[in-house]
Amino acid sequence: MTSSAPTSGTLDVLVLGSGVAGLSAAVRLAAPLSPTGYGGDGGGLRVGVLTKAELSQSATRWAQGGVAAVLGGDEDSTDLHLADTLAAGAGLCDADAARVLVDEGPSRVHELIAMGAVFDRQPGGALALAREGGHSTARVVHAGGAATGAEVERALVDATRASAAAVLEEWFALDLLVEGGRCRGVVAMALDGRAVEVRATHTVLATGGAGQVFSVTTNPAEATGDGLAMALRAGVSVADVEFMQFHPTALHHPAMPRPLLSEALRGHGALLRDARGERFVDELAPRDVVSRAMAERMHEQGVDSLWLDATQLASFDSRFPTISAELAAIGLDPATDWLPIAPAAHYLSGGVLTDLWGATALPGLWAAGEVACTGVHGANRLASNSLLEGMVFGARLAETILDGGTGPTPTGVLAPVLEGRVEAVDAPQPPASGAGRPDLDGLDGLDGSGAPADVAKARDLLQRAMTDGAGVVRSAGSLARAGRVVAVLADAVSSAPADRAGGELANLLTAARSVLASATLRTETRGAHARSDFPESSEAWRCRIVHDGSERGTVLAPATGDPQDDTAGRSPR
Ligand code: SIN
Repeated sequence: MTSSAPTSGTLDVLVLGSGVAGLSAAVRLAAPLSPTGYGGDGGGLRVGVLTKAELSQSATRWAQGGVAAVLGGDEDSTDLHLADTLAAGAGLCDADAARVLVDEGPSRVHELIAMGAVFDRQPGGALALAREGGHSTARVVHAGGAATGAEVERALVDATRASAAAVLEEWFALDLLVEGGRCRGVVAMALDGRAVEVRATHTVLATGGAGQVFSVTTNPAEATGDGLAMALRAGVSVADVEFMQFHPTALHHPAMPRPLLSEALRGHGALLRDARGERFVDELAPRDVVSRAMAERMHEQGVDSLWLDATQLASFDSRFPTISAELAAIGLDPATDWLPIAPAAHYLSGGVLTDLWGATALPGLWAAGEVACTGVHGANRLASNSLLEGMVFGARLAETILDGGTGPTPTGVLAPVLEGRVEAVDAPQPPASGAGRPDLDGLDGLDGSGAPADVAKARDLLQRAMTDGAGVVRSAGSLARAGRVVAVLADAVSSAPADRAGGELANLLTAARSVLASATLRTETRGAHARSDFPESSEAWRCRIVHDGSERGTVLAPATGDPQDDTAGRSPR
């Protein structure tokens, strides 16, 4: 349904995607329609929000645990949050961007509360704070127990609907419009299937992640890497895509997306147990460490799932009502049953490179949220820093546009690219499709006609190949196997229909190629990227792998900034 159509002509800002990052930008940029709208003044710009599903149907609403921000507690400080973020990022965070994240987070949470979001509180009225893996103290605000994303999305959707933003639901962005070295909007497939140009002075990529590249994921079906692929096709730099984060405690169950058993359960004392019932890892370690330990234990014990033991948790049902209801629906009682778990693709830590204000390398194109690489996550995102990143950088880019910002600055992770401080390297070439045809059941059934059934089948084959070859632990051999499948699929479906399913498949294949190229190039283990053939981290690899859509990769020196510099990232543009 389209709740309000854009009038003809050029929009001031077109926001692609309707999760926390996109809507945090939209509500600040658009004029408020009613006094019940966003409590700020609203920017008064002509804004459109384009989303391929309904407005409220984004990955944000699936987020469970919460928003990490320093909102109370004598033991906590933004310096401590920064230190935890940098430690989780395994040497690849941009400290200036992470400083922005932790410093601006608390006020963005308060703004969201002013907008109407309701977070859980203690009996005395203070915000209830939970602890999650990688955090040195309790600092995660949450809603509905572990239904935080749903509440954040509800509040932002209400504020957007109460604004003058035009909303285009069930529209599918096909490609960026690039003219005269600037992004001028997109070509999109309208609700009726027509390809139309939606022109805008500024375009914001807030299209979310690419978890659907994998067969086992916590991401909804819409997470098909659309923004990442559009950026690559337009030659816009993306980085860190080898760092797909696998969440350790997805329920081992056929449902897709996989039901998540929030990290907050471990924060409350739930234990991880192997096939013999023994504990084997610190439950509160960052999630890359936990997922890797699980993968190794599963391999050693020849099993495809382990256990989360929450039997000793007091008040499970009242503290985690949505998880409790999901478990009850499939016949599991956390008071008596250990819960079967296995890692699942959860969050792309990299994405389209941005400066400290959300501008990409292409003037007129901005990015925020999971599609972006601001550098705050490095090689592994700290738990509950994702909603926070969307809130902080979505708002920040909106304020920058309102201040007259027009293009990128040499700051944050974008600085080395804009300043040419890069070392070009030959990226591994994807295998030719004829070379060593992979023995994956079903490949032979793809006839290259691009029939709809082929598209669904190809998506399934791609997902299985990526989970097998580019999962929690990879090697040169496993990545090459996945690469051969991707090459065959790309050939077989090159004439796929120009509908949404065909477009999503093309985007998934583009995202997969990028992940495989970076993962093959990075011959070390770091953060969420674990190589069985290179099990150690290497100082030589403390750099970012950047793609610009060509078949090359570029190795950069990391822009780490100075974690002690309080002014980092807050100087005027
Ligand atoms: C969780 O609740 O475990 C997921 C939150 C996150 O991805 O940070």
